[in-house]
Amino acid sequence: MKLSVAGKGGVGKTFIAATLARLLAREGYNVLAVDADSNINLASSLGIPREEAEGIIPLSENSKLIEERTGFPPGSSYGVIFRMTPTVNDIVDRFGVVGPDGVKLLVMGTVRAADKGCMCPAYALLRVLMQHLLIQRREIVIMDMEAGLEHLGRGTTRRMDSMLVVVEPGMKSIETLRRIRRLASELEIREVLAVGNKIRSDDERRFIEESVREADIPIAAYIPYDPVVVEADLKGRSPLDIDDRSPAIASISNLKEYLKERYKF
Ligand SMILES: Nc1ncnc2c1ncn2[C@@H]1O[C@H](COP(=O)(O)OP(=O)(O)O)[C@@H](O)[C@H]1O
Ligand SMILES: [Mg+2]
Repeated sequence: MKLSVAGKGGVGKTFIAATLARLLAREGYNVLAVDADSNINLASSLGIPREEAEGIIPLSENSKLIEERTGFPPGSSYGVIFRMTPTVNDIVDRFGVVGPDGVKLLVMGTVRAADKGCMCPAYALLRVLMQHLLIQRREIVIMDMEAGLEHLGRGTTRRMDSMLVVVEPGMKSIETLRRIRRLASELEIREVLAVGNKIRSDDERRFIEESVREADIPIAAYIPYDPVVVEADLKGRSPLDIDDRSPAIASISNLKEYLKERYKF
């Protein structure tokens, strides 16, 4: 099962990806959580202590590794021919960090290709690694992504079983959902599901329900606004380690069941 979590900044992608990863791991699944957002913070949402989290270097910034695998330092660009299919099989085992409940975390970071022609070494490495994770790894892979997905290219996105797009009550996050919906066929994303988050009232729930229905996308879960999530963030901890029966966690548990049922894993 290969799942990605996308959506506008601040809607709760990292919280949802991390919590889902840990809840699945608690049931005995092998879970690999991948931080592919340039704003890296999946580690703390997973409950990895800050001192340890701060020591993790994203692969996109690991110049030594990039040069070792592609033959060229990160700055290289046009006109340089480096190995386009570097070996990446050992990267998860070498650089993955094991967090609470046994979730394995890989901090990839992101590299944007400046334009279609650009193929810098870091980008080439991450692309190959991403495809490796989606094709070869046997674990459940949950990727925390940023909104823009175009830079990943079709070769990657079509190998994800499903993309959860998180929305909150507000037009901006719905616009992001619509944009991803438009891109879905071009990128060959197999399935897009919406997840409503930070819901404080029936009106807000209805807003999400109607907007998502208009976009013609199934809703996988409604997650309430939950003070425990805020408290956890203030303390730099995982909400699961503060109160694992809080309302938002209960809804993510329902989301987990929905996904297990829908994708039969
Ligand atoms: N259900 C929720 N209830 C309350 N606060 C939430 C909820 N979901 C997310 N948050 C808060 O919203 C902020 C953004 O969440 P985060 O997961 O970092 O979003 P993203 O990864 O999409 O940028 C954080 O401060 C987080 O604690
Ligand atoms: Mg995030």
